[in-house]
Amino acid sequence: MTRSPQTSKQKIGPVTKICCIGAGYVGGPTMAMIAKKCPHIDVRVVDINEARIAQWNSDVLPIYEPGLNEVVKECRGRNLTFTTAVDESIRGADMVFISVNTPTKTFGVGAGRAANLEFIEKCARKIAEVSEGHKIVVEKSTLPVRTAEAVKTILSSTTNGASFDVLSNPEFLAEGTAIEDLLEPDRVLIGGESEAAINALVDVYANWVPRERLLTTNLWSSELSKLTANAFLAQRVSSINAISALCEATEADVDEVALAIGTDSRIGPKFLKASVGFGGSCFQKDILNLVYLCEYFGLPEAAEYWEQVVKMNDFQKSRFVTRIVRTLFNTVSDKKIAVWGFAFKKDTNDTRESAAIYVCRDLLLEKAKLSIYDPRVTKEQIHRDLTEAILASGVDANTCDALLQTNVEIADSCDSSAADAHAIALLTEWDEFAEADFKTIHASMKKPAFIFDGRNTLKKLSLDDLGFRYFGIGF
Ligand code: NAD
Ligand code: UGA
Repeated sequence: MTRSPQTSKQKIGPVTKICCIGAGYVGGPTMAMIAKKCPHIDVRVVDINEARIAQWNSDVLPIYEPGLNEVVKECRGRNLTFTTAVDESIRGADMVFISVNTPTKTFGVGAGRAANLEFIEKCARKIAEVSEGHKIVVEKSTLPVRTAEAVKTILSSTTNGASFDVLSNPEFLAEGTAIEDLLEPDRVLIGGESEAAINALVDVYANWVPRERLLTTNLWSSELSKLTANAFLAQRVSSINAISALCEATEADVDEVALAIGTDSRIGPKFLKASVGFGGSCFQKDILNLVYLCEYFGLPEAAEYWEQVVKMNDFQKSRFVTRIVRTLFNTVSDKKIAVWGFAFKKDTNDTRESAAIYVCRDLLLEKAKLSIYDPRVTKEQIHRDLTEAILASGVDANTCDALLQTNVEIADSCDSSAADAHAIALLTEWDEFAEADFKTIHASMKKPAFIFDGRNTLKKLSLDDLGFRYFGIGF
C-alpha cells in the first residue's frame, strides 16, 4: 500500500486538546468518557445541530444511557464542552475525531446499500479549511474500507499549510451499555500509517484501558474489522432466529437449543437470544454496506451470503406479525393491541430500525388499533417513525395521518395500554414488563387474552396459569 505524502513525519507531542465532530450516540458518550479519564485533556464536542448541543448542555441529555448523566455532570464545565463553535474547536485541537452519521444511501449509485459519506466528506473539507499546523484526524464513525484514502485526499487539498495524519478508531460500544463498554472495552482498535500518530491515540486510551487491549493495525484492517464485527454479531442473531422458526414448527425450544449450543466454548453463549428481529442504527446499515463492498469488488457470492442475514431479519419481523394475525382468528381489524416497548432494545431511547416500527406498521396496515407504551421513547418520536414507515410502504399522506390519528394511542404505562386490549405484543425487553401485575392486567383485557412476547421476557412467569394465551419466539 502506498503511503500518502500527507502522512506526517512531524514530531507529535502528547494530546492536550481534542475536538469531536458529531454529538450523537457515539460522539457524546465516548468523549464524555475520555474527558472523565483524562482530566488533563480539554475535550470539545461540536455539532451543527443547535438543539442537540443545547440538550447536551441541559439537565435532560439528548440520549438516554444508564450512567451517562453522572459522567457528563462530572466533566461538563471542567474539561468537557458541548458547542456549535465548529471552526474554532477544530482549529484549537491537536486531535479531531469524526463521529458523524453514516446512514445507508437512499439515492443514486448504491442506493439502499452503500454508506452515504456526505457528512464524512463535509467534515474532512471543514477540517482542511480551518486547520493550521499539524492534526491527527481520527475516523470514529463506521466507514467502508478505504474511506481513509478519500479523507486523506480531501485533507491534502488544504491551502493553509496544515498537515495531517489519519487514523481509524472504530467504536464498538452497544447502546444501553455504552458506559460499561467504554469503561472496560474488550479492545480498542486503532489503525493507521504513522506510528507516532497511533502512539498518540494509544496514550489517550492507556489512561484507563490496559495496554494489551489496545490493538493496532493498518488503516484498512481497522476500517473493515468494524463492519465485520457487526456483520458477525447480526449473523448470530439471524442464525438463532432462523432456528426459532424451525423450533415453532417442531416443538423444540429455541432457548434450550441456544443453551445447548452456547455452552460449546467454540460457539459461546452471547448473541444467541432469539427475538422479534434485530434493530438499531447499525447492524442493517453496516451489513448492507458490506454487501455493497463485496459487489463493488466483484464478489457476488460473498455479497449474497451477507445479504441473507438482513433478509432473515425481515422474515423474522413479518413472521411475528403473521403469527399475531393468524392466532387472532385471521383478523386484527378494529382489535386493540397493546404494544409494549418501541426502542430497538432496552435501556435506550433509540428507535432507529427498531423491529417495533415494522411490526406496528404492518399491524396498522391490517387495521389494528395500537396502544403503544415505551418508558423512554417520546410520543413525537413514535409518530415520526410510524409516519415514515407507513409512507415508505406506499400509503398516501392523508391516509397515513388518518390512520395514526384514529388507530394509534400512546399510553403512559403498560397497564393502561393493556386495558380492553385483545392482545399484548411485547417488542422491547424493558425490565419493568416482567414486573407488571399480570393478574390485574388479565382481568382488564378482552378474553381470550393473548400475549405475543417478541423477546421471551415473560416466558418464566407461567402466564398460561393466569389464563393468558402466551406465545413467545421459538417454542
Ligand atoms: P448520530 O446520528 O446520533 O450522531 C451524529 C451527529 O453528527 C448528529 O448529531 C449530526 O447533527 C452530526 N453531524 C452530521 N454532520 C455534521 C457536520 N458536518 N458537522 C457537525 N456535526 C455533524 O449518529 P451515531 O449513532 O452517533 O453514529 C455515528 C457513527 O458511529 C456512525 O458511523 C455509526 O455507524 C457509528 N457507530 C454508532 C454506534 C451506536 O451505538 N449508535 C456504535 C458504534 C458506531
Ligand atoms: C451493536 C454492536 O453490539 C456494537 O458492538 C456496535 O458498536 C454497534 O452495534 C454499532 O456499531 O452501532 P447495538 O446495535 O447498540 O450495538 O446493540 P446490540 O446489543 O448489538 O443489539 C442490536 C440488536 O440485536 C437489538 O435489537 C437487540 O435486541 C438484538 N439482539 C441482540 C437480539 O435480538 N439477540 C441477541 O442475542 C442480541
